Amino acid sequence: MELHVNNATYEVDVEPEMPLLWVIRDILNLKGTKFACGIAQCGACTVHIDGEPVRSCSYPVSAAEGKLITTIEGLSENASHPVQHGSNTRYHSAVTVSQARSWPPYRC
Ligand code: FES
Repeated sequence: MELHVNNATYEVDVEPEMPLLWVIRDILNLKGTKFACGIAQCGACTVHIDGEPVRSCSYPVSAAEGKLITTIEGLSENASHPVQHGSNTRYHSAVTVSQARSWPPYRC
């Protein structure tokens, strides 16, 4: 299936029910999106799909096909976005990508 992530297009051969998080991290090697609870409770795995926050740990990759997926790496091309500087912890990363569009201000 074809995925559009951070303004790039990827062709991936995965099971349709695989969580989007595993595709992002393990297939596309975008490690900024984090795993924590795995049950859509903490937000560590949050990405934007068509501009809306989604918990990628419990979102099947097939539901993201044809949509625009933005991870924390996609907030800027040169890592200059303020929230990309503070994403060194699971929780902080979750908050940053989920609230990136409201910067500034943001709280965590
Ligand atoms: S890992 Fe906690 S909500 Fe996805």
